[in-house]
Amino acid sequence: MRAAILRNVGDTKLDVVDDVSIGQVGPNQVKIAIKSAGLCHSDLSAMNGTIMQPVPAVLGHEGCGDVIEIGQNVTNVSVGDKVIVAWNASCGNCNACIRGEYHLCLQFLISQGYVPHFKEGDTDIFGFAGNGTFSEEMIIPDKAAIKIPNEISYEVGALIGCGVMTGVGAALNTAKVVPGSSVAVFGCGGVGISAIQGAKIAGAAEIIAIDTQDSKLEDAKRFGATHSTKPDGLKAVLDSVTQGEGTDYAFECIGLPATIRSAYDSVRRGGTAVVVGAGRMDQMVEFNAFELFFQEKKFIGSYYGSANVRRDFLRLIRLYQAKRLDLDSMISAKMDISEINTALDNLRSGNVIRQVFTF
Ligand SMILES: NC(=O)c1ccc[n+]([C@@H]2O[C@H](COP(=O)([O-])OP(=O)(O)OC[C@H]3O[C@@H](n4cnc5c(N)ncnc54)[C@H](O)[C@@H]3O)[C@@H](O)[C@H]2O)c1
Ligand SMILES: [Zn+2]
Ligand SMILES: [Zn+2]
Repeated sequence: MRAAILRNVGDTKLDVVDDVSIGQVGPNQVKIAIKSAGLCHSDLSAMNGTIMQPVPAVLGHEGCGDVIEIGQNVTNVSVGDKVIVAWNASCGNCNACIRGEYHLCLQFLISQGYVPHFKEGDTDIFGFAGNGTFSEEMIIPDKAAIKIPNEISYEVGALIGCGVMTGVGAALNTAKVVPGSSVAVFGCGGVGISAIQGAKIAGAAEIIAIDTQDSKLEDAKRFGATHSTKPDGLKAVLDSVTQGEGTDYAFECIGLPATIRSAYDSVRRGGTAVVVGAGRMDQMVEFNAFELFFQEKKFIGSYYGSANVRRDFLRLIRLYQAKRLDLDSMISAKMDISEINTALDNLRSGNVIRQVFTF
């Protein structure tokens, strides 16, 4: 089957091959025929070493497709169901799951992330983050297959699998944005646009979008930002929108120390700064020991939109069906997986929101 493989960390291109195979479906696993996969910045980050990933690996962690085989113990899905692939499913038994922090369950990452589950001839191939949606078929734990209504397109399903869940979830689940509040969103790619939409759904009064690209600032306005600016214009916007006090919330959706620091700086005393962007382990962000207590800002991370995927994928679908979440307009391009390297260049150029692939 066809798949897009990262051979070495540092490679700038993926290798699209047609001779990858997968093993047998285990008792608690399902085999999915991927019909659509989306490209997230985290795939690029696996390529350049920002996010650690053993190689060779099939990349991709946003995907939607059909169940084509189930293991003997599987009861949550049947052959023929349309499902979204969750890149972090929960085991239901660990301490995190017992606390209801399903997105913090490490079981999936430990059991899937570092075990190769594709083959190319005799060579073992990993799947990115235990996934690998840039492949025609994949085998995943049953709990990572979330059944969705048939009328939802595969492309929209794919987007929900990472970027949309992450951004909307950061606003609704992690920060719990309240109506009438002010919000700043740094970075207006698929995740940032989703955070903007999440803030709008939550009833934010002002949403300030910050990006280096003019096209992204225009996109942000279309999706609900009330103000937009390049980074050097942020102070003036904060002065006029919040009388210099700072916003109630900020979402950093880039993953850079400078913008993480800006997100912290842009919230008011007592406000909430949320780090959504995935940065490098060897890059540091500095805070002085006085400001942390004196400002009483809440400085929090957000992993997979703090999602309970079984509940939240369907919530997102209902918001989409109610036309309160625009997912169709987030799709900048649909292409064949053979064009993945063009898509990676488009993503690097910073003028696309989400590109999706078919097989
Ligand atoms: N927390 C999570 O669970 C999670 C999940 C998915 C993705 N992510 C991360 O979220 C981040 C965003 O992902 P994406 O797919 O939206 O990426 P993207 O590349 O589509 O968007 C990033 C945006 O940031 C802008 N940008 C870059 N540098 C900037 C700067 N210095 N100042 C202002 N804007 C700048 C770019 O122009 C672009 O519009 C990535 O770091 C990704 O790895 C995290
Ligand atoms: Zn992602
Ligand atoms: Zn668990």
